[in-house]
Amino acid sequence: MKKVEDYVRSIPDFPEEGVIFRDITTVIQDAEGFQLAVNEMKALLDGVDFDIIAGAESRGFIFGSPLAYAMEKGFVLIRKKGKLPCETVSVEYDLEYGSAEIEIHKDSIQPGQKVVIVDDLMATGGTIEASIKLIESLGGVVVKVIFLMELAGLKGRKRLSGYDVASVITYEGK
Ligand code: PRP
Ligand code: MG
Repeated sequence: MKKVEDYVRSIPDFPEEGVIFRDITTVIQDAEGFQLAVNEMKALLDGVDFDIIAGAESRGFIFGSPLAYAMEKGFVLIRKKGKLPCETVSVEYDLEYGSAEIEIHKDSIQPGQKVVIVDDLMATGGTIEASIKLIESLGGVVVKVIFLMELAGLKGRKRLSGYDVASVITYEGK
């Protein structure tokens, strides 16, 4: 039987030389691949007591939303700046080149709510570090962070130290 990692397409030298791009399009376009990915992420939440799932635009939506549905929880959008129509809080964070800004609706998390954050990939951990700041600024408690994949060589776990982080697939390099 195939494993979920068999569905990930690895593209050398994209977007730049020396980087291997881990492409999830081949996971989700396959019915079995998509099932495996969501089910294995769901297994990472076994025994975790939580109220709501938050996902980071855009690939975090792909996995976070079916996971929330399957677990009968609500789903909160963390979006790139300028997309959410109501009152938001936002945070800026550094990218390899330049910076980005993400935001969340102020009323999407209630103080004390136990939140699970979902994304497809942990690279430097910057996106999720910023996402945690947003959720905590609203009084949410981040009880777990889960990824389909992590690039261990980029030390995202160190950046997110103090949080319970888990991923389905670990790539040792960058
Ligand atoms: C990618 C990926 C993660 C993030 C990981 O998102 O989906 O969210 O980068 O990198 P980090 O750990 O160094 O922050 P990207 O910002 O490329 O946008 P997308 O999800 O909209 O494709
Ligand atoms: Mg992303």
